[in-house]
Amino acid sequence: MSQGYRSGRHFLQIPGPTNVPDRILRAIERPTIDHRGPDFTRLAGEILEGIRPIFKTAGPVVIYPASGTGAWEAALVNTLSPGDRVLMAETGHFASLWCELARRLGLEIELLDGDWRHGVEPERVEATLAADRARKIKAICVVHNETSTGVTSRIAEVRRAIDRAGHPGLFMVDTISSLASIDYRHDEWGIDVTVAGSQKGLMLPPGLSFNALSDKARAAARSARLPRSYWDWEPMLAANAKGVFPYTPATNLLYGLREALAMLDEEGLERVFARHDRHAEATRRAVRAWGLELLCQDEREYSSSLTAVLMPDGADADALREVILEGFDLSLGNGLGRLAGRVFRIGHLGDFNDLMLAGTLAGIEMGLRRFGHRANASGVVAALDHLAAGRAVETAGRASAA
Ligand SMILES: Cc1ncc(COP(=O)(O)O)c(C=O)c1O
Repeated sequence: MSQGYRSGRHFLQIPGPTNVPDRILRAIERPTIDHRGPDFTRLAGEILEGIRPIFKTAGPVVIYPASGTGAWEAALVNTLSPGDRVLMAETGHFASLWCELARRLGLEIELLDGDWRHGVEPERVEATLAADRARKIKAICVVHNETSTGVTSRIAEVRRAIDRAGHPGLFMVDTISSLASIDYRHDEWGIDVTVAGSQKGLMLPPGLSFNALSDKARAAARSARLPRSYWDWEPMLAANAKGVFPYTPATNLLYGLREALAMLDEEGLERVFARHDRHAEATRRAVRAWGLELLCQDEREYSSSLTAVLMPDGADADALREVILEGFDLSLGNGLGRLAGRVFRIGHLGDFNDLMLAGTLAGIEMGLRRFGHRANASGVVAALDHLAAGRAVETAGRASAA
């Protein structure tokens, strides 16, 4: 039976899609225009230029009207040939899905297995690549931030591992839940294809996805033989050079993207990262105060965009999420794949501030009480202590930078 109207704003604290800010909603609701006319050409020009600093690249970024899965497929079909070997790391549910997609495309996977509580181990990447004397491995694919586990792999260190092995494979990275939330550097880290999506750090609704490309990736595309048509980079780049797309673009989402880029520029990308780091730290303090366990086991790999929390044995995370949704209109992420029922995930990425985090943690704390969980202490108070202190430091930093 429908509950009828629920007053107040829903808290969408899954780790994406994230809360879409009013400025972006207003930008999207403008009338759709001719996608071959001069106004569109101006819009496309602004976006294709303005998106590059978000990836920290001087190279081209392809924008697809597709979810992130499309951009995963695009990265592979543009650069590889049937039977090519790809090194992948099983860091969690999304890494496993990318792996499955690659298998279906006819690629051969060499898998670094994992416990879903750690990121990619650079040492294992190095050892595997060093052992590949015949250079059969054509690409190394890594998920930067595993949205299913709240673990962030150390991409710069993986790059150094590839270099130490002297391996020529293409390096492809999924930044779907890290872009515009966690520091990421396409050019500096020598990434060949970066995969991203609209619905997380970029604060947009789902529906756009991205491939940022290196020259090496474009060169590989010239001899790659996997079938491709819709995902083909070259017709897209040729059309983009003229301010258009080879097919009907998602015009209204592009209005939203222009607004998102303006907002990220106003806040400053480095401040966006610092904000995410601070909210993540406050969240972890709350989790510890509740006497619950973080899924991520290596503090170098804590995710700043989400926190996955392990429930005590025998406690059903989905039942807790249900209590919280019904009681407080707060949506939390569920456990995916082998973590189903074992964890809940708190999204603290995108358009988010201290009071939204305080409200989120208060909803969880009240839910835990109703659920019968005996906490050691108040997680909300632990988080507020951090937020109150952190804000002062941030403000002081801002004043001295001015
Ligand atoms: C890290 C990561 N990769 C890939 C995907 C798949 O993207 P989509 O669901 O937009 O197709 C997701 C979705 O949440 C994700 O978090």
